Amino acid sequence: MDLSQFSLEGKVALITGGSRGIGEATAIAFARAGADVAVTSRKLPDLERVADSVRNEGRRALAVATHVGRMDQLQPLVDEVVAELGTIDILVNNAGTNFFSPAIEMEERAWDAVFNLDLKGLFFLSQAAARVMKEKGGGNIINISSVSGLKVQVPTAHYSIAKAGVIMATKCMALEWADFGIRVNCIAPGAIETKLYGAIFELAPEDQQAKQKEQAARRIPMQRVGEPREIADAALFLAANAASYMTGQTFAVDGGSLLS
Ligand SMILES: NC(=O)c1ccc[n+]([C@@H]2O[C@H](COP(=O)([O-])OP(=O)(O)OC[C@H]3O[C@@H](n4cnc5c(N)ncnc54)[C@H](OP(=O)(O)O)[C@@H]3O)[C@@H](O)[C@H]2O)c1
Repeated sequence: MDLSQFSLEGKVALITGGSRGIGEATAIAFARAGADVAVTSRKLPDLERVADSVRNEGRRALAVATHVGRMDQLQPLVDEVVAELGTIDILVNNAGTNFFSPAIEMEERAWDAVFNLDLKGLFFLSQAAARVMKEKGGGNIINISSVSGLKVQVPTAHYSIAKAGVIMATKCMALEWADFGIRVNCIAPGAIETKLYGAIFELAPEDQQAKQKEQAARRIPMQRVGEPREIADAALFLAANAASYMTGQTFAVDGGSLLS
């Protein structure tokens, strides 16, 4: 086995939602594999901390504040990464948000916030990055969906519908852009220990949160919540030449939760 197939040496990656959780872990994993990394989210101080960690791995880093749900901020983001780091070889569409609401009470505002970030922003940022990749003859896009895009979860209809859209967007982009040498794949994480995951337990009374969290972990066939690193490693495989013949696919990384 040739481990150099897992190297990202000489590549430039742009990671959305790169300030914490899965995005931060992916930035570090990619830097350790040899990539220069641009991270983006809304809060610059958090991004600067991650950019410093990337630099500590001996790679170039760039932190750019962007609201990925605002379409007018996407092209300037791509332009800045290209100006500062020279190109974009890999895009990880990881930024995402969720709100909890029964479908019967869903407000248009919550629907729009989730769809604009989790699906529309993902599509149009991919389009802007794909134009750069097409010009240079290839590239790689990794979309972060969720097991919620494959299995109904309540009370988050808008999130589940948007994340199902991410899986179909992956297939549409993969088919149309294969000709340009661009591979597009998707990861559907299960429960991963991050701020976003913790938010669901904040709905419960404070003295019951820890117990509910423990019970939720026990319902997962592997009996535990995943670590952000476990999604980052799957993303590294998809980004590297090791996955050179894969496109349009969705990987569930979920401790077996879709099995039950
Ligand atoms: N954790 C899980 O159990 C789980 C399960 C399935 C899928 N996922 C998916 O995994 C992805 C990462 O989630 P996570 O768990 O790592 O969550 P997280 O720790 O809450 O991180 C979310 C990231 O997205 C950024 N972000 C939020 N709104 C943004 C916006 N409008 N524009 C740009 N960036 C924005 C946040 O930074 P700022 O606040 O600074 O903007 C942060 O960097 C999401 O797509 C999520 O749906 C997570």
